[in-house]
Amino acid sequence: MLVNMKDLLLDAQKRNYAVGSFSVANMEMVLGVIKAAEETSSPIILQIAEVRLNHSPLALIGPLMVAAAEEAAVPVAVHLDHGKTPGCIEQALEIGFTSVMFDGSHLPVEENIKITKGVVEAAKEYGAAVEAEIGCVGGSEDGSEDIAINCTSPGQAKLFAEETGVDALAIAIGNAHGNYKETPHLRFDILEKVHSLVSVPLVLHGGTGISEEDFIRCRRNGIKKINIATATFDSVESSVRESYESGKIGGYYDLHQAEIEGAYRNAKKHMEIFDSVGKAEEIEIF
Ligand code: 13P
Repeated sequence: MLVNMKDLLLDAQKRNYAVGSFSVANMEMVLGVIKAAEETSSPIILQIAEVRLNHSPLALIGPLMVAAAEEAAVPVAVHLDHGKTPGCIEQALEIGFTSVMFDGSHLPVEENIKITKGVVEAAKEYGAAVEAEIGCVGGSEDGSEDIAINCTSPGQAKLFAEETGVDALAIAIGNAHGNYKETPHLRFDILEKVHSLVSVPLVLHGGTGISEEDFIRCRRNGIKKINIATATFDSVESSVRESYESGKIGGYYDLHQAEIEGAYRNAKKHMEIFDSVGKAEEIEIF
């Protein structure tokens, strides 16, 4: 069932779990993530970042993601991750994405607020939710830039949420995209402060490499959407490699199956940590 992301996050707030937001790049990943969601009865978000669209064009993968959500036996929101350009955000809304992110984290806060407000207005016409980012999550979604972490100022987060009316707010607390070079030390002091000041669901980017313990602490302190990308890509790759090494691949469809399996395994593991298992059964769609 295709649903609005806002509804999923409000339910997660109410019942104290977090929704996994899984980045996908092809049909096999979509199938693997949805298989894990159906098997565990977890609500989920399927997402793709604008920088990845040179590999998986939005006009092709977008309708596939929406159709997969519609066909799924569990609630699925479809989200544009790190939207940078108005054209791409508009295209995602036209295709039927139920949520878009505008990433103005690199802009001065006043400009970030101004553009985000415009995106909130545009998304309203489609009944879609909007996520934005305040502070700067490290790295970049595709590893092409080494963006420095700039931890969110709790006061700015409060102002930003109130001024823009976003449905979800991504914050920077020492998290970064891609595989961490060193063990991440999340700033729970900042998270707790933001959580005490901001009522909208918070988003944790850079989920790959965060410990189970830290994920649990995050979801207990206002993080309701957790983005996972690199871990899925790595899991798909290693599943394919293992299958070749163990002689399981005798033709194309074995390769197809190994990709689904890799995405499935990684998604399922995260759904368990995020405590979204079983939540699809009695979810309240507001
Ligand atoms: P990872 O690649 O670190 O899992 O980050 C995912 C993400 O935050 C996508 O926006």
